[in-house]
Amino acid sequence: MSDTASNQPVLPPEIARRRTFAIISHPDAGKTTLTEKFLLYGGAIQMAGQVRAKGEARRTRSDFMQMEKDRGISVSASAMSFDFDGHRFNLVDTPGHSDFSEDTYRTLTAVDAAVMVIDGAKGVESQTQKLFEVCRLRDLPILTFCNKMDRESRDTFEIIDEIQENLAIDVTPASWPIGVGRDFIGCYDILRDRLELMDRADRNKVAESVEINGLDDPKLAELVPADLLEKFLEEIEMAKELLPPLDHQALLDGTLTPIWFGSAINSFGVQELMAGIAQYGPQPQPQNAEPRAIAPEEKKVAGFVFKVQANMDPKHRDRVAFVRMASGHFKRGMKLTHVRTKKPMAISNPVLFLASDRELAEEAWAGDIIGIPNHGQLRIGDTLTEGEMLRATGIPSFAPELLQGVRAGDPLKSKHLEKALMQFAEEGAAKVFKPSIGSGFIVGVVGQLQFEVLGSRIEMEYGLPVRFEQSQFTSARWVHGEKDAVEKFADANKQHISHDNDGDVVFLTRMQWDIDRVVRDYPDITLSATKEMM
Ligand code: G4P
Repeated sequence: MSDTASNQPVLPPEIARRRTFAIISHPDAGKTTLTEKFLLYGGAIQMAGQVRAKGEARRTRSDFMQMEKDRGISVSASAMSFDFDGHRFNLVDTPGHSDFSEDTYRTLTAVDAAVMVIDGAKGVESQTQKLFEVCRLRDLPILTFCNKMDRESRDTFEIIDEIQENLAIDVTPASWPIGVGRDFIGCYDILRDRLELMDRADRNKVAESVEINGLDDPKLAELVPADLLEKFLEEIEMAKELLPPLDHQALLDGTLTPIWFGSAINSFGVQELMAGIAQYGPQPQPQNAEPRAIAPEEKKVAGFVFKVQANMDPKHRDRVAFVRMASGHFKRGMKLTHVRTKKPMAISNPVLFLASDRELAEEAWAGDIIGIPNHGQLRIGDTLTEGEMLRATGIPSFAPELLQGVRAGDPLKSKHLEKALMQFAEEGAAKVFKPSIGSGFIVGVVGQLQFEVLGSRIEMEYGLPVRFEQSQFTSARWVHGEKDAVEKFADANKQHISHDNDGDVVFLTRMQWDIDRVVRDYPDITLSATKEMM
């Protein structure tokens, strides 16, 4: 093991000990189970099974929507904080379904690393691959957990090869499994030279951990059946020859991922992974911003909103803006500047997402995620500072790929519908466009399931049944140019023009030809498929 990560800046200890990360995985690989065990070892819950109540598959505490329970998907992303090994872990939950890629993308702008969970029998699945590619765009460091080793799994080299080939990242084993399926007895912890033995009798019992003294230690022969030991020693010898050692800097650069093998449900390998995150995971990283980047060690507080969630608690009709602290030491009651509106905002009741419950945050450091309840002032992409006009960048809004018209079931309720839609638009749950011709709204999403979620939420949270209707449009582009040019363009193309919830001009398209025509006929207009949120 070589630690060459000397070019990490020295941060104040409170900041340096923070690890802010997300878990990426394909549905069913074990993200919920692993999250639960993280919280268990982080002392945030007392007993496994609290996160996902028994019998109600995939219901975590952070899930509250009927829809989520019914469909078994995690629609809402939330943040959870807990302590482990002298470190503060901030785990930001990513929605698992592929239809939520936009939300997931934004969540990944708020973390410094990702834990990739794969199923030992299935390897790299489609959703893992997609999410990995999003991480790659930001060179996020990735730590890998190969789960379900208690079941029949693939050959260890095959799993590692698949990751290296499909994801084009180097893999270094942090642990090595001994035995397969029914014969799986545990792992050799390569980083700490220990033998970890899984207890199949008690799923919540931490594995027996035996210190050994290198691979020649006679203790190995006492604890590992001869046939398994022989195969293991052969494999580990080969692994040493074929696979790179752990290079901390390569991990931090996102070009090498360490892999731990384990079984989340059996609480096996989880603590080793957590220790790995603590020891090798990145400390809070600088945030890109205009006109200058924000460094975590700066004395002054800055943070940005990466997610807004409305009606988190059905009893309080509030919105919570999830803010990633980018620098400084925040204290409750501080007055911060809301850069977009240049107005001061007293942050008197910020929330820290301790897994057990929402709790008032007395303080937060760079790297932490806090929730700020508000009445709609805070939008995705907003920056809060102690006065400097900084604007966090890199939090995009994507052009929707599916468009539908939406109407209130009761025509007299269309004002209510407008209010609900605007709120969801600000939350980033959908794009809402008001066409310049005709009445009604057009809603744009990235995946089909978002329509269902939206419909169900409008009905549940506003008591408004809605109808979606086919739209002649298939995509949307934001229109940029000099004010006069945009106005002239909008006048000449009224049937395509609408405004989004920020009042920006949007060109609705039916086919690629519409876009090509604008490019050809209006050289002073540009159309863009993303809009940087601000
Ligand atoms: P997800 O959030 O990634 O979708 O996965 P989740 O944790 O819900 O796990 C998916 C299924 O895999 C669950 O089974 C869970 O119990 C099981 N599982 C998780 N980790 C392990 C493991 O290490 N070994 C084995 N054998 N299974 C594991 P389920 O039957 O769908 O749900 P449930 O009835 O257990 O709640």
